Amino acid sequence: MCGIVGYIGSRDAYPILNEGLIALEYRGYDSSGIALVDKGKMTIYKTKGKVNNLKTLVDKKNAKGTIGIAHTRWATHGVPSNVNAHPHTDCKNRIALVHNGIIENYTILKEQLKKEGVTFKSETDTEVLAQLVGKYYKGDLVEAVLAALDIVEGTYGIAVVAADNPDILVGARRGSPLVVGLGDDDKEFYLASDASAIVRHTKRVIYLKDNNLVVLTRDSHQIMDLDKKILSHEVHHIDFDASTLAKGGFDHFMLKEIFEQPETVKNAMRGRLIVEDGTARLDGLNLVMQELRQINRIIFAACGTSWHAALVGEYMIEEIAGVSVEVEYASEFRYRNPIIDSQTLVFVISQSGETADTLAALREAQRRGATVLGICNMVGSSIARESHGGVYLHAGPEIGVASTKAFTSQITVLALLTLLLGRMRRISHSDGVTIAKALEDIPDQIKKILKQNDSIKEIAKKYSRHDNFMYLGRSFNFPVALEGALKLKEISYIHAEGYAAAEMKHGPIALIDKDMPSVVIALKDSIYDKVISNIQEVKARGGKIIAIANEGDREIKKHAHHVIYIPKTIDMLSPLLSVIPLQLLAYHIAAQRGCEIDQPRNLAKSVTVE
Ligand code: F6R
Repeated sequence: MCGIVGYIGSRDAYPILNEGLIALEYRGYDSSGIALVDKGKMTIYKTKGKVNNLKTLVDKKNAKGTIGIAHTRWATHGVPSNVNAHPHTDCKNRIALVHNGIIENYTILKEQLKKEGVTFKSETDTEVLAQLVGKYYKGDLVEAVLAALDIVEGTYGIAVVAADNPDILVGARRGSPLVVGLGDDDKEFYLASDASAIVRHTKRVIYLKDNNLVVLTRDSHQIMDLDKKILSHEVHHIDFDASTLAKGGFDHFMLKEIFEQPETVKNAMRGRLIVEDGTARLDGLNLVMQELRQINRIIFAACGTSWHAALVGEYMIEEIAGVSVEVEYASEFRYRNPIIDSQTLVFVISQSGETADTLAALREAQRRGATVLGICNMVGSSIARESHGGVYLHAGPEIGVASTKAFTSQITVLALLTLLLGRMRRISHSDGVTIAKALEDIPDQIKKILKQNDSIKEIAKKYSRHDNFMYLGRSFNFPVALEGALKLKEISYIHAEGYAAAEMKHGPIALIDKDMPSVVIALKDSIYDKVISNIQEVKARGGKIIAIANEGDREIKKHAHHVIYIPKTIDMLSPLLSVIPLQLLAYHIAAQRGCEIDQPRNLAKSVTVE
């Protein structure tokens, strides 16, 4: 997803901007660019491909300027190319602008501008905005930006500079995050779409709200609304540092994050799990116990991996707490006519807290009067701020595009919610204690699975040349089968299908042959025998089986070509363990194929467009 960095101060802007772009690489992008203003002259460098390409280009020049803006682009309008890369300028090259989001009425505006004699260089919606600012610019950059924003529809996070005005950097947001960094003695300022781009320089930040505009000079910062009313603001302290973002000795962020899971799962339950009472406390929900007791229906809205976690939540809450749950794709929910009454509670689940579809689902639910709670990782994200309350994952920044640790943290939080709701309703103290103790054991059990990394890598080597995979699971592990297939396809580009094991015979079984291996989650639970039958169905068609089974299961070897053993836990928590080998398998298969694991093609870490 696109990323923005801006700087104004007394230091050379280029190294700061370049460093910021590198920090934003994890978000996924296809081109990058920088605009620097020096002595009334604006210089723009932009190029398709990696930030390193940009560096090669800029290093050959004498890049000067103590004010500048920079961008990593993830194409939405127009192909990835040098011309479509940001910054974009007006036709007089006086204004440079970078933009995250989508200008929805850009076609009409572009036609109008063309009639007025403006010629366009790129295919982007962003250039329309740059041209508009240029059109209204008469020496006052703030006025020009406000006038342009007044007529655009859609979403934006922008940073703008003017060649003849080297002492002012303007930013604005609507629907696309933007954070202001306060530098040394408030004599230099940063602007970024994501705090990780500026955390090396400052930990003091202001999160802009929708329809906020920020004016940064070399010794002041001012936040206003789009009617120029000055707004007060809160300064937040970022609690992660640059070293947290490094790969920590692993080849990829994804692998590092897989290995962090014993710790991140522990963090998700820290201070929340009350083992002796067999329950959990989730203070951030901002709901009094009475309200929680009264709800009789929960809706989860989420996308991708977060949606898979929500499905696990559905199985857990219905089974243990007896509350009816519906899981919706956020992208569908926002355009449906969902039924929400006073006893329905809506949860949105999002690692980034910035996913456009999930944010829209949150707003739609709120419009309908629902109490909406967020389960998010990113503190201060849009979803975290706009929901009525919620629970943070405390998993630390997830850099790898393929979500891993956020998934297990989401399931941990959902297990805590299940305990809380369950103990208010139908589970006994002793059953609550059993669940709580099992949850407490999970981090060590994950550690045990991670020790099998090398043997999982060997299995991956055997299968890395296959082009099609089937993932099968049932009950609590059906969503894990979906997640395993998603992990494999997004980082290795291998076609993978995830299915509820018994559903396979209703169609997908037609795909099975000797070249399509099946990864089957076959745990010693109440439906073990049924899953074994499903394995037989695959084997009868020549399919190879990689089974995820429980330690001590002596039978499974007879049925599977390879077995990865995991410790036994209670059924509802088994996804927290069964997903680990699937993450490792996907990782090693992708690594064998030489794929770009942390930034897979066509994917972005945070999908802030519809
Ligand atoms: C998959 C993945 C995506 C995200 C989805 C939602 O590995 O990362 O499917 O899960 O885009 O993102 P969040 O959770 O940030 O809302």
